Amino acid sequence: APLMAQDIPVSDLLPGTITQWELVDVQGVPLPSSTADHWDQIWGFQARPDDVLICTYPKAGTTWIQEILDMIQQDRDTQKCSRAPIYQRIPFLELCRPPLYTYCFKEAEAMSSPRILKIHLPIQLVPPSFWEQDCKVIYVARNPKDTAVSYYYFQQMNHGLPDPGNWDQYLETFLAGKVPWGSWFDHVRAWWDARDKHRILYLFYEDIKKDPRGEIRKMGQFLGRELPESVLEEIVQHTSFENMRENPMANYSTVPSFIMDQAVSPFMRKGMVGDWTTHFTVAQSERFDDEWTRRLEGSNLHFRTRL
Ligand code: A3P
Repeated sequence: APLMAQDIPVSDLLPGTITQWELVDVQGVPLPSSTADHWDQIWGFQARPDDVLICTYPKAGTTWIQEILDMIQQDRDTQKCSRAPIYQRIPFLELCRPPLYTYCFKEAEAMSSPRILKIHLPIQLVPPSFWEQDCKVIYVARNPKDTAVSYYYFQQMNHGLPDPGNWDQYLETFLAGKVPWGSWFDHVRAWWDARDKHRILYLFYEDIKKDPRGEIRKMGQFLGRELPESVLEEIVQHTSFENMRENPMANYSTVPSFIMDQAVSPFMRKGMVGDWTTHFTVAQSERFDDEWTRRLEGSNLHFRTRL
């Protein structure tokens, strides 16, 4: 889509415009070229023992978890949680966004502790210092059918990412793992297999939808905090889909539309379990299930696709 000057907030006018990131193979995983270009610095990132890492495959509900963890860390102070957009409060380590190159590992290095950091990396590409420092990691997985639908819309609205083509084409691309950050199957499975080897809390989007209070309590406990009922209730309210959709510090509306065009598809799109049923044909669903069964064979990793 052509860049329209009136779409760009004055504060965001920059020399140069966004260029679409090619996907570049990093040890067998297709990653945005800006990530590949900075790979040595990302791999050498220095973790600190009190860092908390949020890791997800894209579209698993990352932003939701980010807002929840910031609320826990800021003692449910909604003012403090409005201090900056979510992508500035919690840097996304490996995404070096051209042309600004901000809110990635560079800002994280300058942040004071305790830090919360975000990655989408498959486990074998996590900078080794996170394991050396025995950092706590919260991993969130979402069922692959809803993930694929969400990613399809996101690749349309995010002009940094490859155009997804039509739905039929995209489904094949997704199943083949030829999307940014690679195969969903490999990602969720390898993190699942490692969950007892490190301090990893492995959560599911569907569980958080079903019982946000219980899952947020778990996150608090994992971080060493026993959250009273009233506090839990405030966090549940503040991080509901409806509230986050209206919250400019959570809904990515501060990103200029030449990068994320929310007229194409809002970042806070539907926020539900089972939206896949309105996109998959019966044949596509069967084809997807076959691949799913094959790729997770021998694993006890199970997902709900409806609530
Ligand atoms: P949909 O596209 O299915 O609506 P990520 O943050 O990993 O990019 O994931 C984005 C997905 O999480 C989107 O899914 C978005 O709507 C959903 N999401 C964001 N905040 C949410 C919330 N508070 N509750 C439920 N879903 C949420």
